[in-house]
Amino acid sequence: MNAYLGIDVGTSSAKALLMREDGAVIATAWREYDILRRRPEYGEQNMETIWQAVKQAVGEISSRCPSEAAQIRGISYSGQMHGLVTVDEDGKLVRDAIIWADQRVGEEEMDAIYRQVGRESIHETALNDLASGFLLCSLVWLREHEPEHYSRTAKVLLPKDYIRFRMCGKMGTDHSDASGTMAFDVRNRQWAWEILDRLGLDRSLFPESRESWETAGELLPEPAREMGLKPGIPITYGGGDSLMQEIGNGVVSREDPWICNIGTSCSLNCAVETPVFDRQFRTNTFCHVKDSLWMLMGASMCGGIALKWLKNQMFFMDSYDQMTAEAAGVPAGSGGLLFLPSLNGSRCPVNDPGAKGVFAGLTLEHTRAHVIRSVMEGIVYGIRESMEIFQRLGIDTGRIIASGGGARGALFRQIEADILEREILTVEGEEQACMGAAITAAVGTGAYPSYREACREIIRFRPERTEPIRENAAVYRERYPVYCQMYRQTKPLF
Ligand code: XUL
Repeated sequence: MNAYLGIDVGTSSAKALLMREDGAVIATAWREYDILRRRPEYGEQNMETIWQAVKQAVGEISSRCPSEAAQIRGISYSGQMHGLVTVDEDGKLVRDAIIWADQRVGEEEMDAIYRQVGRESIHETALNDLASGFLLCSLVWLREHEPEHYSRTAKVLLPKDYIRFRMCGKMGTDHSDASGTMAFDVRNRQWAWEILDRLGLDRSLFPESRESWETAGELLPEPAREMGLKPGIPITYGGGDSLMQEIGNGVVSREDPWICNIGTSCSLNCAVETPVFDRQFRTNTFCHVKDSLWMLMGASMCGGIALKWLKNQMFFMDSYDQMTAEAAGVPAGSGGLLFLPSLNGSRCPVNDPGAKGVFAGLTLEHTRAHVIRSVMEGIVYGIRESMEIFQRLGIDTGRIIASGGGARGALFRQIEADILEREILTVEGEEQACMGAAITAAVGTGAYPSYREACREIIRFRPERTEPIRENAAVYRERYPVYCQMYRQTKPLF
């Protein structure tokens, strides 16, 4: 049977997933890497390292499953969004990528961009607020602070686009990832040429942008040999990880459930048939994978990365399972301890690269378990803030799908059910972003007539569901307004 390869160019690892045409997962493999932090506010990655990781992950799959790998009929991508990859005229990397987690562009520099272009023009076109780590901000920073790198830059790409370029030799991007750059006209699905002109950015820096399922090229002989694949396999554009994750969870219309994703960052996402956006820009609106579909997203910079920080830097624990087992031993509300998860700045509901994390209400009664649980609760309170914004925009849902690493633990799912007061579902399989990429490859090469059909055939909900526990929900309902004050009350301290 035909097979499709999905590659997720993530923040912590590159993952590859080989899917049979009927949706069965044949194999997955991944290779990890780190964010480079030359300064605390910097978030950079070396794309050559990531390219090696992709080759190794795919190579592992083709050596473990050679006969199925020989049946691959399409390849596509999911990628960490927003980052700036710069390449020169020969396609060589100019410098390390400045990724979405980078907080170097401060409010003043963003204000300068607003002044040059016009705040309203930016908002009306890009439908989002400027944020540090978004490609346009990083590019303007580069021109200002590293003119030698800027002058060598011939094209700007998003992280997954660079990997695709290495595989098919053609540069391009897709509308979902382009819409996270702030240089894109999100309603009309094209580059925002006027914004670029007003900023004096050469139009030729920006590659062609297409829909996620369109064909970008074919796998070149050299990378094919290195990865153990056949040359000439059709390659489709793919999309941003948040979008691909929606596909891997079967979310392709407003009627579908929402997604509560907890990965390195975390977010609440839904699909909408019109480019709905919040007039205060507390949420993000990006193009979805096909014409006439967009995604509304409330994203926090800090999801599972807060638990990783606790595990590796504070408590030196062995595993997340050990952490959540301990946290499950203390009651909802963590004995009054609250955590504001802005360890890495904040995007939603406040856009503040300088925001800081806060523990509030610590006493001598608190144990390590309370601290862990309060971090998990703080992450989900942040998701609730996004949920309330969605509701004010007239969008609501009865059901939410837990996705990302956070979906794996029963405790996280229960905290989600209790704080969001919604039934929490999960779908079969674990690598939804990779799965979305593999489905995109299948749709793009004609195995399915549409995303809707493909998702109907492929995505299966798990039978178990997590319902809110009434007593816990009552505790959280009382604590949530206090959580909501934490940012405003502590901001002046920093
Ligand atoms: C989405 C976002 C993150 C990154 C990294 O807006 O910032 O999801 O794509 O995963």
